Amino acid sequence: MSEIFERFNLTGKTALITGAAGLLGIEHAAALLESGASVVLTDIDTAGLSSASEKLLSSVESTRVVTQVMDVSQMSSIITTAREIENKDLRIDILVNNAAIDPKVKEDKGMIETSRLENFPLEQWDMQMAVGLTGAFLCSQVFGSAMARNGKGGIILNIASDLSVLSPDQRLYRQDNVDENMQPVKPVTYSVIKAGLIGLTRYLATYWIDKGVRSNALSPGGVFNGQSDEFVQRLSSLIPMGRMAQKNEYRSAIQFLCSDASAYLNGQNIVIDGGRSVL
Ligand SMILES: NC(=O)c1ccc[n+]([C@@H]2O[C@H](COP(=O)([O-])OP(=O)(O)OC[C@H]3O[C@@H](n4cnc5c(N)ncnc54)[C@H](O)[C@@H]3O)[C@@H](O)[C@H]2O)c1
Repeated sequence: MSEIFERFNLTGKTALITGAAGLLGIEHAAALLESGASVVLTDIDTAGLSSASEKLLSSVESTRVVTQVMDVSQMSSIITTAREIENKDLRIDILVNNAAIDPKVKEDKGMIETSRLENFPLEQWDMQMAVGLTGAFLCSQVFGSAMARNGKGGIILNIASDLSVLSPDQRLYRQDNVDENMQPVKPVTYSVIKAGLIGLTRYLATYWIDKGVRSNALSPGGVFNGQSDEFVQRLSSLIPMGRMAQKNEYRSAIQFLCSDASAYLNGQNIVIDGGRSVL
C-alpha cells in the first residue's frame, strides 16, 4: 500500500456509530469498512439495525459488523453496550456521534403550528436535546474515557450540520395560503444542538489530547432523500453548486476525519455544504 493510502488505513480499528440505522449512519459505516475498520452499529431502531447490517455484510466478512441496540439518551443503555463490547473483546478506537432527531418540517394539522418558537413544546426541546446533544456527551463520557484510559487514544467525530454555522433559512419551508403564524419552521432545537456539538468538539479536543484522543466535527449540508421538487429547487438556489448532496458524498470526509490522514486536525468543524455557508 502506498504511504498516502496507509494514512487512511483503519485495519485493526473498531468504530462505534450512533444512529447507524439512519440515512447517513449506514454511509459512515460503509466508509469506515472500506478503510478496513470493523464497525459497531448502534441505534434504537432494531429492525433498521438488522437491515443496515445485512446491506453492509454483503461486501465484508461477518466479524467486522456488530449490531447493538443502544439509546444514546440513556446512560444505562450506553453502559450495557460498553459491557457487551468488552465481552466481545473489542476496543472502540473511533466514536461517531451521529444520532439525532430531525423532525421533518411539515404542515401541522392542529390548531397551532408547534414547530414555531412561540409554541415549541418543552417536551420536544428536552427529547431532541437528550438525543442530539446529551447523547453525544454521554457516549463521549463512556467511550472517550475508555480511549483515554487504554493508552491507545482515539477519535471522536461529532456529526453536526451546516446549521451549526448558519441560521436556518425559514423561507425554505414556507407554504402557500397559510397564515403567517401557522407557517412551519425548522425548529430552534436543531440549531442549538448543532452549535452545541461544536462546543463539545472543542472541549473534547483539548481534554484528553495528552492521551491521544482527538475530536472534530463534520457539518454536512442537506442530503437529497426524495424531498419535494419545490423544496429541492429552493434549497439548491441557496447553494453555489446548485444542488443538494448525494448521501454517499461524505464518505471520503469520514475516512479522512477518522484516520491518521487527519492526524494534525483537532477541534475543527469541517463544513461540507456545496459552498452554501460562504455566500
Ligand atoms: N440528512 C441530512 O440532510 C443531514 C444534513 C446535515 C446533518 N445531518 C445530521 O446527520 C446525522 C444523521 O442524519 P440522518 O439523515 O441519517 O438522520 P436519520 O433520521 O435518517 O437517522 C438518525 C438515526 O438516529 C436514530 N435515533 C433516534 N433517536 C435515537 C436514540 N435515542 N438513540 C440512538 N439512536 C437514535 C434513529 O433511529 C435513526 O436511525 C444527524 O445528526 C443529522 O442531524 C443530516
